[in-house]
Parts: sequence; structure tokens; C-alpha cells
Amino acid sequence: MSSSQPIGVFDSGYGGLTVLKELAARLPQYDYTYLGDNARAPYGTRSFETVYHYTLECVQWLFRQGCPLVILACNTASAKALRSIQQHDLPNIAPDRRVLGVIRPTTEVVGKFTKTGKVGILATRGTVLSESYPIEIAKFYPDITVFQQACPLWVPLVENNEHDKPGADYFVEEYVQQLLAQSPDIDAVLLACTHYPLLQHKIARYLPQSSRLIVQGEIVAASLADYLQRHPEIESRCSKNGNLRFFTTDSAEDFDNHASIFYGKPLKSTHIVLP
Ligand code: DGL
Repeated sequence: MSSSQPIGVFDSGYGGLTVLKELAARLPQYDYTYLGDNARAPYGTRSFETVYHYTLECVQWLFRQGCPLVILACNTASAKALRSIQQHDLPNIAPDRRVLGVIRPTTEVVGKFTKTGKVGILATRGTVLSESYPIEIAKFYPDITVFQQACPLWVPLVENNEHDKPGADYFVEEYVQQLLAQSPDIDAVLLACTHYPLLQHKIARYLPQSSRLIVQGEIVAASLADYLQRHPEIESRCSKNGNLRFFTTDSAEDFDNHASIFYGKPLKSTHIVLP
């Protein structure tokens, strides 16, 4: 086994960097290896089967890099692939390793953000259609009513670096209005896609001032800290040199040019080809 045993962080593209940024800020002692499947992004419009196969390939690649633990820092992959990987694949391919997602940590705390009990979810079409958020939130907060809105144009806007441009406002307002039209009492809105924090300021502009905007990065970081404390058998296997490495299935040059917007500082990636 390799001496570096980083925590793997996976996303379809750049979005997971908004989560990794918070993980590295809260838990800087660990090594992290990030994989963005940019060559095949976006995942949000793809079928369950496709998202599952792509995600499994990426998780296996991260396992080959020595990761004892992989975080799916992608709501779409968490919604469509996590359960199958945990239940059907892990017992056969890597019974001693773990794969975690971003939906469960978020649904565990979502109740703290609402007074009316009406929560809005902004997500990719895939995440919305999976019904993962309504199902998971009902387990922890049966009294909360969930309203979902798919925002299929937001990931392309962000991936193409158009999120700051005035043209983006049209599509931000459109989906936010469609969400709010579902109930006047929504007082908490969750950005249930790791790309959306880049649109956060624009989204906030179209929400009532009294409503809360919930962003996942810090929530996932707090949840990982708690998980590692409760699972010393996994924690003790994670190497602790504070190293971060970045990999992409598409052009490393493109990744480096674009990734700092998500990560908040420049980084250098390496291109990989999945077998
Ligand atoms: N960032 C991913 C998520 O959190 C979705 C991006 C995509 O559609 O590939 O859902």
C-alpha cells in the first residue's frame, strides 16, 4: 500500500473544489486528492446508469491512489450513485474503504435554517428527479415541506465562466422565481449543487432578505470532522502531511485556468486517462 493515503474528493468537474476548500480549511492536517471528471461533465442531465458507471470508475481510480476514504463532493453523484456503490460495490471491491456523499450531512442540519418549515432546494435535474432530498429530509425532519427546482442551465454557466456576467442574471432570476412561486413561505434555500456557490451572490439578490441561503461546503467539512472522530479505524489510515493533489480527466491547462475561481487560489493539476 502506498505511503500516501489521501482523502479522495470527487466531482464531475470543478464544483467539488468549493467543498475541498472548506475541508482543507477545517482539516488541514490531512492529504487530499481531488479528481474532476471534466471530460464527461456535466453529470446533472445524465441517466442514473451513466452517473453510476462514471462515478464508480472515478472512485476506483481514487482507491488506486491509496485513498481509504472518498467523498463524493457532487450532489448528482451522491444522489444517483452513492447508495449502489456503498451497498453493492464496496463489499466486493474494497470492503475496508469508505465512500461518503454530501446529501446526508446537509439533510441532517437543514432544519436549523428554517422557521416556517418550508425549505427550497436548487439542484441539477438529476438530483431533483432522484427525490433524494425530500426523502432524506423527511427522515430527520418529518414536518418540513420540501420544494425543489431544477436549474439545468446553471452548471453550464459556471463551467463556461459566465456566472459573473450580466447575462447570467436572467437564468438565476428565472429559476429562483420558479422556486419561490411554489410557496410564499419558503424561508430557507439550499444550494444543492456544488457548482452553485459561484452564483451565490446573484441568487441572494432574488431571494427575500429574510430567507436563509444554505451552502454545503462548511456543513460537509463539519460532518467529515465528526465522522473521522467517530471512526478511528478510518482516520488512522488517512495520511497527514497537508498535501493536496489535483487531477482532471480533461485538459490540465484548462483546469488550472478555471479552477482557482472555485478553489479561491491558484492550483496545478495533472491530466489522467481513466482505464
Ligand atoms: N456539482 C455537481 C453537483 O453537486 C453537478 C454538476 C454536474 O451537473 O455535473 O450536483
